[in-house]
Amino acid sequence: MRNPLPLNRRRFLAGGAALAGAAGFALGSGRAPAYGQPLAAPAVPGVFPDVELSLVAAERPSVLPAFAGNELPLWTFSPDTWLPIVRMPYGARLNTTIRNDLPRAEEHASIHWHGIRLPNDQDGVPYLVQEPVFPGDSFRYSFVPPDTGTFFFHTHCNTAEHIGRGLIGILIVEGDTTEPYDADEVVLVRDWRVDLAAGVFLPFTTNRGAGRAGTYGPLRTANGAVNPEMVLPAVADCRLRIINVDPTRPIDFGIEGAEAAIIAIDGLAVVPFSLDRWIMAPAMRIDIVVRTPRDGGVARLVDFRPDDPLAIATIRGAGEARRTGPFDPAPLRAPVVPEPDLGAAATRTITFAASEDGDLLPAEDAAFGFLGPLCLSFNDFWTIDATGWPAGDHATAPPPLAELVRGQSYRWLLRNTTQHLHPIHIHGHTFAVLRSDKRTLLPHHADTVLLIEDETVEVAFVADNPGRWMLHCHVAEHQETGMMAYFTVT
Ligand code: C2O
Ligand code: CU
Repeated sequence: MRNPLPLNRRRFLAGGAALAGAAGFALGSGRAPAYGQPLAAPAVPGVFPDVELSLVAAERPSVLPAFAGNELPLWTFSPDTWLPIVRMPYGARLNTTIRNDLPRAEEHASIHWHGIRLPNDQDGVPYLVQEPVFPGDSFRYSFVPPDTGTFFFHTHCNTAEHIGRGLIGILIVEGDTTEPYDADEVVLVRDWRVDLAAGVFLPFTTNRGAGRAGTYGPLRTANGAVNPEMVLPAVADCRLRIINVDPTRPIDFGIEGAEAAIIAIDGLAVVPFSLDRWIMAPAMRIDIVVRTPRDGGVARLVDFRPDDPLAIATIRGAGEARRTGPFDPAPLRAPVVPEPDLGAAATRTITFAASEDGDLLPAEDAAFGFLGPLCLSFNDFWTIDATGWPAGDHATAPPPLAELVRGQSYRWLLRNTTQHLHPIHIHGHTFAVLRSDKRTLLPHHADTVLLIEDETVEVAFVADNPGRWMLHCHVAEHQETGMMAYFTVT
């Protein structure tokens, strides 16, 4: 089988910059160029009126710039835009009404607020924490996001199709800056599984893809366009929030033609360090600051993973130069994440593996049919600790993978025994990514961590949020064919 990622071609995780925030665990050893300024004191939540958000999940035939004039039956959250971007102040309460107008009987649609450490009953996992929201029904979410940063939201059932059809939104909690950047833009990276000539979606999932690296889309976009040009102020420090929401495809993200620094990972500030390459699997985000080219000059955001690196978006500088001195991007405000007590932490290895079915894969490219509104899966290709999420629905959840004690620290060794990449997401908690047995990792906080082939990554966190929380691979097809579990905190 082809190595899905030629890792030895390049160094892709910069090591070195000091860990952000309050956590005091071991810091990196200083390899990547870090810039001069440490993180600022944490943001203080302000007093703001509630933010009201009304979402209506529905089919809305749409022509995105990438569709070359063809209309596709997108599913979206808003009649006004295919991609809602919600910006809210830190400290405000977000009240959301979701109405489900999806065009298929039984196709329920609750909202999971990815990366937000919210109360369990707001987490949006059908059956596990709330009743499913069936077509014709509505549901109301209300919570105060506890962290600033770049987050997103999506449904939590039949996600290969839901995300595949576009059902996604961005949530930005502001208040993390110390001085204004010259721009602040979202760059949402994803494929579309479309046959443009026929104006139809391709099957969102296939046996071949689900049991291997995933079913990639042939049409690759940023913000709904193929290699769009983003005009930004010239010689300026511009913040770009890079978000990979593809259902399956990881990218090896970098920039050509400009200097850039990573300032946040999964929304949480890190001491700015030089962007070289950063692997972003589905659900992973980074915030970067780019020193843009002079008036008329261009730089490119690039996926270096294909043999022929692919330009994701082009940045063009415009106007008078905004900055003069050398590049030293303003840092963000430190996140406040409970610090795990590594000395006292209970340690456990959690193994992500292929199931026996996974070893007997049919080779054909056929779709494996309708996964269906009940979160059904007809195949179990993957397991977590030898157990696959049952090929039933969420309504018949298995016993929890772990029962954690509230307030205790846990150290988990996330072990990938497969030859495929698995971005592992833990709900309800932000964890410290400590080390890998294969790579030099920059210690940082995250809600989703990538496991490369045969890799074990050590994470630690304080189980401070009571409830039933999911733990799963964010490659939607892997999640839906077994690589999903949950744990309790009581
Ligand atoms: Cu973004 Cu359980 O997911
Ligand atoms: Cu996976």
